[in-house]
Amino acid sequence: MKVLVVGGGGREHAICAALNRSPRVDKLYCAPGNGGIAEVAECVGISATDIEALEMFARSRADYVVVAPDDPLALGLVDALEAAGVRAFGPRKDAALIESSKVFSKDLMKKYGIPTARYAAFTDADDAIRYIREQGAPIVVKADGLALGKGVVVADSVSAAEDAVRSMMLENKFGKSGARVVVEEYMTGPEATVLAFTDGKALVPMISSQDHKRAYDGDEGPNTGGMGAICPSPNYTPELARICMDTIFKPTIDALRAEGRPFKGVLYFGLMLTPSGPRVVEYNARFGDPEAQAVLEMLDGDLLDIMEAVTDGRLAEADVKWKRGASCCVVMASGGYPGQYEKGKVIRGMDELPPGVTVYHAGTMRENGKYVTRGGRVLGVTARGDTLADAVEKAYSGVGLISWDGAHYRTDIGRRAR
Ligand code: AMP
Ligand code: GLY
Repeated sequence: MKVLVVGGGGREHAICAALNRSPRVDKLYCAPGNGGIAEVAECVGISATDIEALEMFARSRADYVVVAPDDPLALGLVDALEAAGVRAFGPRKDAALIESSKVFSKDLMKKYGIPTARYAAFTDADDAIRYIREQGAPIVVKADGLALGKGVVVADSVSAAEDAVRSMMLENKFGKSGARVVVEEYMTGPEATVLAFTDGKALVPMISSQDHKRAYDGDEGPNTGGMGAICPSPNYTPELARICMDTIFKPTIDALRAEGRPFKGVLYFGLMLTPSGPRVVEYNARFGDPEAQAVLEMLDGDLLDIMEAVTDGRLAEADVKWKRGASCCVVMASGGYPGQYEKGKVIRGMDELPPGVTVYHAGTMRENGKYVTRGGRVLGVTARGDTLADAVEKAYSGVGLISWDGAHYRTDIGRRAR
């Protein structure tokens, strides 16, 4: 089968590597891909948001398309492919709205009694500010639309929350994404991610995971796309898994189906384990990055088989198995990330990595036979072990060998059991 993966980061590298292990994949394309993905797939120079060009390419060259990032899902790539007669993995646009509109997802949770933070939605900045003054701080302000993971401000003062409203609604910091905002209750507790395969009826959770969003050790510094992930999350007990299945996962899938927007693909549950029980922080309509790198390391089986079962609505019969132990992905980033950073630095030390260490490329390219940096997040150094401590040590043994000018990474991924 000829398969096209859409996207070009670490998550897509992990997805391509997993698909490449399937005996049924005889040709793998990735658009646009990156320097590392080129080792396992043929990279095609089409942007992940060029819906028309992707559809044209897929029509003539691919039997199956895996849409990994949020933007093309929100733009309706899966709908376009289906209309063109190409089978695709991922939700249609109307179901992807669960990620691309926070107002939609909050209203859905409220309507169906799914536990989440109390909130109000606003299209007028003065109304939002009045509500914030009534509620007091800490309080959380979220842009309605997609904002590269940066549209959330956890404000510890009323004035910081007001500033966030002004920058989103009046100064258009996120363009149209900030025309509406959600203001919500501040929740506390450890966070965990659960990715789940779903065909709209059946739902199969993957092993839990945990992202590390802040740039520096000890959860200091600005938010990033994610500086590392571990799998499973030490906080996510079997008891919590049962509660989440009954109060969050199944009700969400049922709600989307009841609304006439059945969700097929990977649904990402961002959870906060609050003193009053697990609650939803956010949904994403796709695998997380870097969670995918850690979680797919644990998959024991054929990813293509599972994905096709999702697409064909036979997930209930699929065999989804996991390896024992734990995994860890440490992200190595360019100096300055998530702010300004330089590109084009030569990456050294990737040739002689210890066995069992896998490097997923996020922002690299090939230049004169060498890998050079081309993005903020550059590599995700990933390993599996019998225990989380083993996986962490192994991943860092790889990180210690890799270097480039200004490389920076957190030294505490998975090292603080919280
Ligand atoms: P999101 O992009 O919605 O995942 O939000 C980014 C981060 O902001 C989350 O991972 C949380 O750490 C934090 N956050 C979001 N919503 C809340 C909330 N209601 N209370 C406390 N922290 C939050
Ligand atoms: N790691 C968070 C995300 O992919 O949105």
